[in-house]
Parts: sequence; structure tokens; C-alpha cells
Amino acid sequence: MSLLDLDRDHKCVLMFGGKGGVGKTTCSATTALHYALAGNKTLIISSDLTPSLSDIFEMEIGPVERQIEGVENLYGLEIGPEEVMKRWKEKFGPEVYEAASAIVDMEYDEVINYVAIAPGIQEEFMLDYIVERVRDGGYDLVVWDTAPAGDTLRLLGLPYKFIEHLRMAPKFYLGVLDTLNLKKTPLLELVESWRALAEEITDFIRDPQKTKFMLVTIPEALGVYQTQRLVREFKRYGFDIPYLIINNVIKEPDCDFHRKRREMQIAYIEMLVREYGEEMKIIQLPLFPYEMKGVERLKELERVLFSP
Ligand SMILES: Nc1ncnc2c1ncn2[C@@H]1O[C@H](COP(=O)(O)OP(=O)(O)OP(=O)(O)O)[C@@H](O)[C@H]1O
Ligand SMILES: [Mg+2]
Repeated sequence: MSLLDLDRDHKCVLMFGGKGGVGKTTCSATTALHYALAGNKTLIISSDLTPSLSDIFEMEIGPVERQIEGVENLYGLEIGPEEVMKRWKEKFGPEVYEAASAIVDMEYDEVINYVAIAPGIQEEFMLDYIVERVRDGGYDLVVWDTAPAGDTLRLLGLPYKFIEHLRMAPKFYLGVLDTLNLKKTPLLELVESWRALAEEITDFIRDPQKTKFMLVTIPEALGVYQTQRLVREFKRYGFDIPYLIINNVIKEPDCDFHRKRREMQIAYIEMLVREYGEEMKIIQLPLFPYEMKGVERLKELERVLFSP
């Protein structure tokens, strides 16, 4: 089975989400490795504040795309909100200043820092940055290892707030401009172009062909409850979750301790299958006796995750 049948021409983003510590980074890294080994130029991005990719691939990754040692088509990137903001300022700063300075008399930094705190703008440009990697960065696939659950939803929800904000902006600025008796300014054009950008990105993440969500969980009460909450939330935002990975499953218990845990797990696995078996593809991943670190270990997991 291939987790996804990727059309090589079909550039997409795979997003991994779920509760803290359930195996998001492990599953993202394994999936990225799989598609890279199959010849797709793949980028794995972590937007988590803690640099988890560096740990799992046992090399320093950081905010500049780097090839993963020993894997030809695989690149990694760890990028936090601060770095995104920095790049946003580089990309849009001069344009914003030029537009704003036509109507207000402010210092460059004042203007840029003021605009940079608009609601949702940070999330918007994080998404923009990621979508840009797959559209213009020459990658066949971007695998996105997100921060734990709540943050991901915030990330997905805020661009709408940003769009709303921009929807109101022309009215607001027009009000200001009326008093200044100006008809059309670069600022309005800029706001309009951002709105178009925000909508383009929202369309990209809403298109199930372009952005696919993979939910990771574990067969325990907290894992199941969190999954139920997340699925509800995702649906509220209009996103489908085609895949659910149940991680840390004890397959062959050989002692009382593990037999008991296995029994406990089965009840939760059955619950998940009953509830989501029809709408999602559910994949069970075994609990390994060691931690998943380094390309060789990930290859073992890759064989299980993508076994026929
Ligand atoms: N199937 C597995 N078998 C054994 N160990 C595993 C398995 N999956 C994950 N682990 C281990 O569990 C720990 C947590 O996994 P991981 O870092 O992938 O979770 P995460 O969801 O990304 O966590 P966070 O929310 O903190 O980012 C790691 O030490 C990893 O090696
Ligand atoms: Mg992680």
C-alpha cells in the first residue's frame, strides 16, 4: 500500500497533526523519507519551536533548507514564527513602507512593525511560505510536521481572520483617504494584493488534492478524545482528514504487562475504527522497542508504514 498515490506532477503539501508526543515528527519524517527514496524531491518542514527534525535526522537543520545526509532527494527546514516574520519583512517591507508613507509620516521600522502585528498575519505568511516551497521551490512534495494540535488549528483558522481584516481594511483606509481627498493609493493596491494572496493560500489548503491532512494518535483515552475533538474542529473549518495513523500499537505482547496494555489498546482501536473507519484510511503502526532516531531506524518504520 502506498499511503498516498502521488502523481509526480501533482505538487502537494502533506500536513501531520495531532496531540503532543504521539509521533507526528516520526511519521512525518518517515513519510518524507519514503517519497524521497521513491524519487520525489521532498522537503520536510517543521514549524515547531523546538527543533525536532534535527534530533530525528541527527544533524543540524535550522531555518535554511538543507539536504538530509545520505538521502538524495530529501531536504529539511526548521522554521519558527520569528524567522517567518523576518522573511516577511524582507519580502514585503519596502513595498509596505512605500505604500504607507504616502499617507502617514512614520519611520520605516515603525510602519513595518505595526503592520507585522495585524491579526493572523504571521500565520498567513507561514502558510504562504510553505505553499511557495511547493509551487516555486521545485519540490514535488512538502511534508509539514506541525506543532501540537491546538496550534495547527489556530494556524489554519487565522488566515480567515486575516482575510476578514483585509476585507475591512479598504473601507477603513478609504475613510482615511476620503478625508485626505485621495482616490487611489498604493496602500489600497497593496491591501488588495494581500487579500488575493490570502485567498489563494486558503484555496490551496482547502483543496483536498493539494493539501492532505494526516492525523496521528495513540490508542489511549487521551489520544482518542483529542482525536474526536480535532476531527470535529477540522470539519468545522471545512477540512477533510483522509488518513488516521494509530501509533505505538503493541502487536505481539509477550508478557503480562504488554498483554494488559494490548487489551487496553484494542478497546480504543476498535472505538476509532468504529467511528472513523468508513471516512478515513486507518493505519496502525507498531510500538518499536527502541526510539525512532536516524535514517536507518526510519527506514524500518517506512517499510511498515508503506508495506503492501
Ligand atoms: N512507533 C514507535 N515506536 C517506538 N517509539 C516511537 C514510535 N513513534 C514515536 N516514537 C518515539 O516517541 C517519541 C515521540 O515521538 P515524536 O517526537 O514523533 O512525537 P511528536 O508528536 O512529534 O511530539 P511533539 O508533539 O513533542 O512534537 C520519540 O522519542 C519517538 O522516537
Ligand atoms: Mg514533533
